[in-house]
Amino acid sequence: MNRRHLLGLSALGLLGIWAARPSDNGRPYDDYFASLNALLKQQGAGVPLLVVDMQRLDANADVLSQRLGSKLPLRLVAKSLASDGLLDYLAKKLATRRFMAFHQPQLNQLARLFTDADLLLGKPLPVSAALAFYQQLGITRFDPARQVTWLIDSPLRLQQYAELARALKQPLQIALEIDLGLARGGFSDPQALGQALSTLRTSKAHLQVRGLMGYDAHIAHSPPWIGRDRAFADTNARYRAFIDTAQTFTDLWPAQPLLNGAGSLTYALHARGDTPLNEVSVGSALLKPSEFDSDLLSSHNPALWIASPVLKAQSGELPYLANLQSALQRWDQNRQRAYYLYGGRWPADPVAPAGLSYDSLYGRSANQERLNGSAATALKVDDWVFLRPQLSEGVLDDFGELRLLRNNRLVGSWKPENMG
Ligand SMILES: Cc1ncc(COP(=O)(O)O)c(C=O)c1O
Repeated sequence: MNRRHLLGLSALGLLGIWAARPSDNGRPYDDYFASLNALLKQQGAGVPLLVVDMQRLDANADVLSQRLGSKLPLRLVAKSLASDGLLDYLAKKLATRRFMAFHQPQLNQLARLFTDADLLLGKPLPVSAALAFYQQLGITRFDPARQVTWLIDSPLRLQQYAELARALKQPLQIALEIDLGLARGGFSDPQALGQALSTLRTSKAHLQVRGLMGYDAHIAHSPPWIGRDRAFADTNARYRAFIDTAQTFTDLWPAQPLLNGAGSLTYALHARGDTPLNEVSVGSALLKPSEFDSDLLSSHNPALWIASPVLKAQSGELPYLANLQSALQRWDQNRQRAYYLYGGRWPADPVAPAGLSYDSLYGRSANQERLNGSAATALKVDDWVFLRPQLSEGVLDDFGELRLLRNNRLVGSWKPENMG
């Protein structure tokens, strides 16, 4: 190969690299976020905020209640909606007093707040945590013997809760956790469930069986060679086999058992009709963080934003790479600007203005997060950047309050609770 050929090939290579460069993803705010930016510049008080769009929350609640109709009662998943105000609002709007709790302090908080609630544990708590619940309950109208249902996942837990009931000298309600294929524990098959019920029968323990709880999020992640419809049918068949066994214990099994299951990822499948459940648990779908983007939830809309002011708007230099900066920026226009936010490292992705991204070369920061964007993002110091949380669980606790947005006005706030 002669020199001319080599030069020709190099030129072609360079052309190829140039052609493969990222396109300019930057855009100014759309109307929704332009208005929100203007509002927060006036009323945001300059610190990162968690904003709930109440109109979208209402619309999500309407979709949920229309789908469930009167066939399938709803239990609100408290860990995904971890704010007293939010839970109270949704419980009224969706006309439910049923809550699913995952953390002992949260359980006490729910019992204090909703004295007429029906509380079901979403995970089995160590028996010492259950004892702490009774010790912290205080004098209240809330009657745990009727209003709390503890979750039992194993023979050992059954024995421990039987001892707790004896020590407290009061009956405890229990639901049995069944493994529908999620492989997160619970009774693995109907035989194991039957053995536990036989033990319970002979022990004469003060435990009242209320029903079953089986979470089925694995259906939403079923591999292509199985497919969602078959995974759903198989999981329901498994649930029904557990019910069949439980029903043979006529002395223990209630006439109207609690058959809890589902979650945001699968409730829409159960709402279609063929389900063994008589209630579904839903939380996240009401705020729709990004991990809940799925075709089954396409009629729900994101209703939760993290908003953070831009502290610094810069020309996008990188430490030690000053010599490469102009080549880097020409190749990737989305590196033309670097914006530093007030706070960061949230489990969230920037959504407005469009075209912002974390800088993998620079890294993340909880103090002043760096985002890159092209000149078209056009942000200035004191503008606000909007991020969409990947999940709501845990995120609410990171903020002092939740600001409520309606008709582009801040109409109130709720305190997040440390619901765990
Ligand atoms: C037992 C149980 N039920 C239901 C849910 C659904 O919660 P969400 O609707 O927030 O996804 C979960 C989530 O972890 C769960 O563990």
